[in-house]
Amino acid sequence: MSIKIAPSILSADFARLGEQMAEAEAAGADWIHVDVMDGHFVPNLTIGPPVVRSLRPVTNLPLDVHLMIESPERLIPDFARAGADRLTIHVEACPHLDRTIRQIRELGVMAGVTLNPATPLSALEEILPEVDLVLILSVNPGFGGQEYLAHSTDRIGRLRRMLDSRGLERVELEVDGGIGPQNAAEVAAAGATVLVVGSAVFNQEASIAANLTALRERVHPAS
Ligand code: DX5
Ligand code: ZN
Repeated sequence: MSIKIAPSILSADFARLGEQMAEAEAAGADWIHVDVMDGHFVPNLTIGPPVVRSLRPVTNLPLDVHLMIESPERLIPDFARAGADRLTIHVEACPHLDRTIRQIRELGVMAGVTLNPATPLSALEEILPEVDLVLILSVNPGFGGQEYLAHSTDRIGRLRRMLDSRGLERVELEVDGGIGPQNAAEVAAAGATVLVVGSAVFNQEASIAANLTALRERVHPAS
């Protein structure tokens, strides 16, 4: 399965969001990762359904919305109406995880589940057959530009084995946080199918296209 790259717009220039998203799409991005933060579940506040609604007509790429919010069930209908293609919720924010995953799917949106770096993977055991995507956070959520937490690679491998041993190869294994040319190959080799990349795509060092090419070369070396 070829590795997909999902630029996280948290690191983009919000004064030129549509333009930068179009640039990422033209440069071969596969998904657009939208980091939603409420200032409660994480100590940062970002964007909500109105921004997703304005981004929807600008791109044909799947809008991969990562909900770092308390009580996500309240806003899931608004994000679905705004055009989200995937909605990923935190196990730590959902006492009724099965009900909330079903709520997402009943709205025709792909359902994802994610967990903070110190939350055991065992928290996923019962819900794995019900989801379309599992997101491994390889940083503590809330900000772009953080260091990749080294123990994440082992977690990715263990989750890969959990999915494969249950015949759940169809479930996307997305990894999010601190990914760049220096570790993209390691993360892909551990079993990821989607890499979320923020500051290594949107930065002052190089263009979006050049940064995406550098990443792609690491995960799909020219044969
Ligand atoms: C962190 C977010 C990540 C982050 C990734 O809470 O969920 O998606 O924006 O940004 P980088 O790639 O810079 O770590
Ligand atoms: Zn994210």
